[in-house]
Amino acid sequence: MQKILVTGGSGLLAQQLKTIAPRDWELVFLGHAEFDLTNAGQMAQQLAIRQPQVVINTAAYNLVDRCETEREMSWSVNATGPAALAELCAEKKIPLVHYGTDYVFDGAKKSPYSETDTANPLNHYAAGKFAGEQAVIRASPHHLVLRTSWVFDWHPTQTKTFIHTIMKTAREGRPLKATTDQVSVPTFASDLAQWTLDLLRAGAGGLFHAVNDEGVSRYDWAKIILAEAVKAKLIATAPPVAPVLSSFFNSTMRRPDYTVMSNEKLSRQLGRPLGSWRDGLRKMLAQMK
Ligand SMILES: NC(=O)c1ccc[n+]([C@@H]2O[C@H](COP(=O)([O-])OP(=O)(O)OC[C@H]3O[C@@H](n4cnc5c(N)ncnc54)[C@H](OP(=O)(O)O)[C@@H]3O)[C@@H](O)[C@H]2O)c1
Repeated sequence: MQKILVTGGSGLLAQQLKTIAPRDWELVFLGHAEFDLTNAGQMAQQLAIRQPQVVINTAAYNLVDRCETEREMSWSVNATGPAALAELCAEKKIPLVHYGTDYVFDGAKKSPYSETDTANPLNHYAAGKFAGEQAVIRASPHHLVLRTSWVFDWHPTQTKTFIHTIMKTAREGRPLKATTDQVSVPTFASDLAQWTLDLLRAGAGGLFHAVNDEGVSRYDWAKIILAEAVKAKLIATAPPVAPVLSSFFNSTMRRPDYTVMSNEKLSRQLGRPLGSWRDGLRKMLAQMK
């Protein structure tokens, strides 16, 4: 039986790994307090006690805006933490799975990014996540790094996601606005969890872009969420969504506008299409009832 230690145990992706955990593998989920990426001593101790054959690191500091102001803390979670974990895993020859982000790209390409495209992070979150994934790639010969984007799914306590915000605003009859100039690929966390386990079973390694099919703007994503919510009878009618540009929100932080990643390499590796986020959205809305 494979023993797998999963960090970030209470997060969105970890929750889906828990849901689909195969019976012949033992998955051990450790939360922030028990396995803190900023505490190398604690991580070493946990690895010594738990003796996992694989580590899946889902832990990260994902509040993109807050990373700009909480620079030191976010860097220690997203960059130096994964680097320390990768070194510990390398010492013990434990394969390490780690997750990166579409934000490593600057958006200038305007066609889907492949794994060989050059990264150019525009903000502190992106720089930290890029430093983290590169450290994992360098330190750990048995690494699997999966870059993903706009991860969504149902979760018992995470109720502030983009989908929740759209639904809440619609139900309260407040005006909705969404950006037309931010384009990426929504990715269903259940699918990402399944790809992760399938890759581990196949003994695959390397860097992969792990996203569902089809890029979409925040504006179109919002309209599709509302249309599906009407079909799922969560709301009676879909309210209008006002299209706006990112500049409308007056943020001083630079965000890339186009970060669609191509999933061709992962699809080839798994030998099947990765499927649409539209199916994932329907499944999530069915659980939100
Ligand atoms: N969600 C997205 O849209 C998205 C997009 C691109 C890439 N990704 C990447 O995909 C992976 C999984 O994301 P997710 O959506 O599952 O994230 P998530 O729901 O935010 O979960 C991350 C977990 O990390 C924990 N954490 C924070 N600081 C920690 C620390 N110092 N040590 C240990 N744990 C810590 C958090 O616990 P507390 O809440 O208790 O602090 C949280 O449970 C991450 O690498 C993320 O960067 C996600």
